[in-house]
Amino acid sequence: MRSEALAPLLPRTWTDGGDGVAIGGVPLSRIAGRFGTPVYVVDEAHLEHRLAEFRTAFGPAVTPVFAGKAGLYGALVRLLDRAGWWIDVVSAGELEIAAWCGFDPSRLLMHGNAKPPSEIDAALERGVARLVIDHPGEIDLVSARATSRPAPAGGTGGIDVLVRLNADVAAVTHEKVKTTGARAQFGMDAVAARDAVDRAVEAAGVRLAGVHIHIGSQISDLDAFRRAARAVVEFAAPLRDGFGPVIDLDLGGGLAVPYVAGDPAPSVGDFASAVLGGLEEARADERLGAHRVLIEPGRSVVASAGVTVYRVVARKRLPDGHEVIAVDGGLSDNPRPSLYGQRYEVLPVGWSAAPADGPVRVVGRHCETGDLISPEARLPADLGPGDLVAVPVTGAYAYSMSSRYNGLGRPPVVWVAGGDARPVVRRETIEDLTGCDLELTAPPAGAD
Ligand code: LLP
Repeated sequence: MRSEALAPLLPRTWTDGGDGVAIGGVPLSRIAGRFGTPVYVVDEAHLEHRLAEFRTAFGPAVTPVFAGKAGLYGALVRLLDRAGWWIDVVSAGELEIAAWCGFDPSRLLMHGNAKPPSEIDAALERGVARLVIDHPGEIDLVSARATSRPAPAGGTGGIDVLVRLNADVAAVTHEKVKTTGARAQFGMDAVAARDAVDRAVEAAGVRLAGVHIHIGSQISDLDAFRRAARAVVEFAAPLRDGFGPVIDLDLGGGLAVPYVAGDPAPSVGDFASAVLGGLEEARADERLGAHRVLIEPGRSVVASAGVTVYRVVARKRLPDGHEVIAVDGGLSDNPRPSLYGQRYEVLPVGWSAAPADGPVRVVGRHCETGDLISPEARLPADLGPGDLVAVPVTGAYAYSMSSRYNGLGRPPVVWVAGGDARPVVRRETIEDLTGCDLELTAPPAGAD
């Protein structure tokens, strides 16, 4: 059995008996045999539980919106749909993934700090529920695009917008995922946001629905969420008359998850208390009247539902004495170690009588020294080529940030539940890798 310290990292149905690790009642060795490695394995029961946990913690009055950038594919869209969640998309591509699955656009929210006009058109065309405005000039652009198109049959046309506020609430997290403060390129400070509100009140085809804030990602200091909620009320209260009868307060995502044993593991309940407590402290009921709260979690919904299973390819000792285990994936299926210095636990999938040895460095197969999954994993002394390992907490921002670096096709996503394994995204093949490539055609006669 694994140590208690690992429990917060693992999918709920993870079991670890004499036959090795299973998730959803399916041995990981069987999944690796059937679908190959690397493979993303997702515990369906864990996902369902997590969706319900947010509902319970925030209560029925809060609208949960899943941040699609954490990972978006058909099976997940359909699960979110069944659970009554909204989805937050950040591009026409994510919008179309949701639409392709038949997701109702009236539960889609689109944001982005540099939406090209064509993507604003896509949002209008599809009829998304909310568009998040990132800079004052965007109000004019959206208004121009909205009024230049005919209103849909039976509708008034136009679009509901949220103004994104950049309030400096000093969240402690990795510099690369901080989204507030003077250096962050997202949203507007209070002065610019007020300008956006004024413009929205005047603009045709734009309905001012509310205020949005997202202070960053992987935040375990819950007080930052409390301060953000208060900042939104402070901003909106003096401008309340400009908004519709019910003002939306979208308080973003950002709740941290533990990646390695001993990391802070804030609960969804504590997150809800911080967010809702901040609103209460700022007296939102009294100062804003009718309002609706939205939250946009991504990572904290899906991260620990997923593990990546790799096969060990090599084990060797370096000139400096360190032992290294190299697996058959890495940077291309999970760039987070290279981008943010994130470290992961690496766990053996098979059962071994050999005691844990180590520490051993676990690396990927890519041609970069930064392709490091764990600097000091404790793995059995007899674990070697051909054996399987599982890396937990890869359910968020691994699949969605994967690439084809070094000519590796992206891995499949396999959902497991009740003893069944169902592939929901297939592995990319050599045909996919070459599929966008075009022959260089001869230049037309007479061209330079
Ligand atoms: N809402 C907005 C406007 C966002 O920009 C984000 C994430 C979220 C919600 C969801 O945040 P979450 O609950 O997932 O923390 N690639 C990085 C994370 C970048 C997050 C960007 N925005 C990583 O792998 O750590």
